[in-house]
Parts: sequence; structure tokens; C-alpha cells
Amino acid sequence: MAFKEIKTEELNNNVFGDIGKKWMLISAQKPDGSINTMTASWGAMGVLWNKNVFFCFVRPQRYTHEFTEASDKISISFFGEEYRDALTLCGRKSGRDCDKISLAGLTPFAENGNVGFKEAERIIYGKKIYAGKLDPKAFISEDIEKHYNGDYHTVYICEIEKIEEKE
Ligand SMILES: Cc1cc2nc3c(=O)[nH]c(=O)nc-3n(C[C@H](O)[C@H](O)[C@H](O)COP(=O)(O)O)c2cc1C
Repeated sequence: MAFKEIKTEELNNNVFGDIGKKWMLISAQKPDGSINTMTASWGAMGVLWNKNVFFCFVRPQRYTHEFTEASDKISISFFGEEYRDALTLCGRKSGRDCDKISLAGLTPFAENGNVGFKEAERIIYGKKIYAGKLDPKAFISEDIEKHYNGDYHTVYICEIEKIEEKE
């Protein structure tokens, strides 16, 4: 159950597989201490403004959006295949309607205002450095608009503060 901290240079996972295929939980904590999380399979990791960053994309109607807006921290957590059902649940149910974290059998904890899960195999803790709504006027490919019904994602770019991996 213990985690060890690793450096970004020590990450040797394939980001396309991790985000696109394994999926991740995007989590944040409100100032009142409450936590919410949601499954995501779109996102990115890289280097920007001389910082190691991740990008995540949250539609405005998600309950999680209230949390990512209210907090200056966001985390992304990755899980083993045995948690596929838990991630499916967190991607189908809203924390507005139920305690989906308990229903999913996950145990959240807060670390310096950021959220981790005991069951995660890797937690990447970020600090928001950019937040903004996607501008459809900037869509170049005609393929993009079909993903929306006016509910353009808020893009969060987060500086990676810490990475923990299960020992
Ligand atoms: C595999 C998968 C990937 C998803 N990726 C995203 C995403 O990148 N951005 C997003 O806003 N919603 C995404 N969703 C939808 C949210 O996870 C879903 O609407 C969730 O119920 C929101 O929960 P909340 O209302 O508690 O925030 C995804 C769902 C699934 C199942």
C-alpha cells in the first residue's frame, strides 16, 4: 500500500496507452475538504514553459468541474486492470447523485490539498498553471466539433509537483 516518489525522468510508461487505453481519474478537492473524481481517457503529458506538465480536459457539466475550478491542485491517478470496473463506474455515475468513490471501492486521501487513492498504481499531483475553455473558433479540423454540443472542455495545464508509484 506504500507509495514511493519518483522523478518525471523515471517515468517509463507509454502515455498513449496509459491515458487512452488504461484511462485515469481526474480528481480535486474543494476548500471545504470534499473530493470528487471522474474517469478520463483524453489528456496529455509533456513540457511547456520549461515545466513538466500534464493536460486534462473537463466538460463544464461534470460535477468534477466544480472541484477543478475551486482548487488550485488537480491530480491524475492510474490503476491496474483490476480496477477497470471502478473506473467505468466513475465515468458513468456523477458524484452529484451518489458517493461513487465508495461505490467504486476506492479509498481517497488528500495530500497537501491534492487527491490520491490508496488503490492507485501511480498518482501524478499537479498545480494548475493554465485553465481555459476550448475556443471552437480555433478548431481547424472539421472532425472536432462533432464531439461537442456547446459543452467545450475546460483545458487545465498542471505543473507536475510530485509523482508517486506503488512500491
Ligand atoms: C473512458 C471514459 C473517458 C472519459 N473521458 C472524459 C474526459 O476526458 N473529459 C470529460 O469531461 N469527461 C470524460 N468522461 C466522462 C466523465 O467521466 C463522466 O461524465 C463522469 O460521470 C463525470 O462524473 P462527475 O459528474 O462526478 O464529475 C469519460 C468517461 C469515460 C467512461
